[in-house]
Amino acid sequence: MNRLMAKTIEKIVVSEGNKFLSLDKGFLESDLIYSQRRNPSLYVHIPFCKMLCPYCSFNRYPYKEELAKSYYKALKKELVLYKNKGFQFDEVYFGGGTPTVNLDLLVDFVEFLKSLFSITQISIEANPSDITKESVKRLKSIGVTRLSIGVQSFKDSVLKEMGRHSHTSREAQDNIKLASGHFKTVNIDFIFNFPSQTIEDIVSDVNFVNELGVDQATFYPLMPSPHKKTKIERKFNSIDTHREYSFYKKLLSCVGNSFTPSTCWCFSKGTHTIDEYIINHPEYIGIGAGSIGFIQDTFFVNTFSPENYISLLSDSKFPIVMSKKASKKESARYYMLTQLFGMKMNEKELKERYGSAINSELLALSATGMINKKNGVYHTTQSGMFYIGLMMKQFFTSLNGLREICISNKY
Ligand SMILES: C[S@@+](CC[C@H](N)C(=O)[O-])C[C@H]1O[C@@H](n2cnc3c(N)ncnc32)[C@H](O)[C@@H]1O
Ligand code: SF4
Repeated sequence: MNRLMAKTIEKIVVSEGNKFLSLDKGFLESDLIYSQRRNPSLYVHIPFCKMLCPYCSFNRYPYKEELAKSYYKALKKELVLYKNKGFQFDEVYFGGGTPTVNLDLLVDFVEFLKSLFSITQISIEANPSDITKESVKRLKSIGVTRLSIGVQSFKDSVLKEMGRHSHTSREAQDNIKLASGHFKTVNIDFIFNFPSQTIEDIVSDVNFVNELGVDQATFYPLMPSPHKKTKIERKFNSIDTHREYSFYKKLLSCVGNSFTPSTCWCFSKGTHTIDEYIINHPEYIGIGAGSIGFIQDTFFVNTFSPENYISLLSDSKFPIVMSKKASKKESARYYMLTQLFGMKMNEKELKERYGSAINSELLALSATGMINKKNGVYHTTQSGMFYIGLMMKQFFTSLNGLREICISNKY
């Protein structure tokens, strides 16, 4: 690894990411414009989990049945607000938190969603402990096309150290077998570079992926928010970001034979849907507490608090608390980052959207061998994958910081 390059990238993306994500209070409803040509996707956030994992920096709260019921009612109201503004969606991504935490509420919501829109793809994140024969049957019957199961590690001692007590390795394996082959895509999520993890643990995780016959595996580098980083480091050793490259290099060599990269972190057998709706769809609407939307170069951020979210929707108000109109350069950089993270970017589409706004960035990436251009398409090279992933990690880390600020300010 070129440490200087990694450090420089980190510095630039952190400072640009912070600028980019410094949002203004409020929003203009007139900025929420549907464009059929841009075909936005829909992200639905379910912020509840039965057990909270200490490393997790997503917007999530302990599951309470009554709160979840009111939350789903509010989600339906928010969906109708978008329908009334003329929005159409065909692809939907449920993330969390844990969308499978209450299957009855989820199934009811998906049925409502399908009564409003012609949905063709449904991706859902699930906790291994929620996978049973019965839940697989129900998820299939509502048309789930991609099930993404969070495992994090197949080593019990790592799970324990992570504070992930919702399942053991054996339970995760057994439950994944129940889902495997029943959906168009079954994905497993892992985290790498946790302080107690070794390179051998990652090799073993990849072996499990092969044995279990899943279609896809996503490996996230540990990305704690500033507050979580201090907590993890107080409990374990410090997070050594220099180890990340060794983990990643090993990962590429292990998954290389039977899987191809769908993103810098996600590896698939053949072509499969990925979780990163921000790659497949440059424009998206996010509903639910703490969701983010990006429409016509404007970011919209919903309130993070489920109670506030429910309260705003009880008055049929959009729960958006912050927004930001990105400049042409900022939008072009964001587009470039998401596309190259997804391994390729079409030059004609880039030019149509943003002209020559990021010519110098493209020159720098080409000169350092991170991308190359073939037949009008920029491709992320194998040596570029780590660095483009690093840029995405820094972007997500800035996002985690923003999330923490918003939660502490009760937005
Ligand atoms: C929002 S979680 C939802 C999945 C589900 N709740 C579960 O844990 O099984 C999606 C994935 O994000 C990843 N993740 C969560 N916290 C992370 C962190 N701090 N750094 C890197 N990846 C993280 C985990 O791999 C997790 O499975
Ligand atoms: S990793 Fe999943 S189960 Fe754990 S707290 Fe985060 S969202 Fe909830």
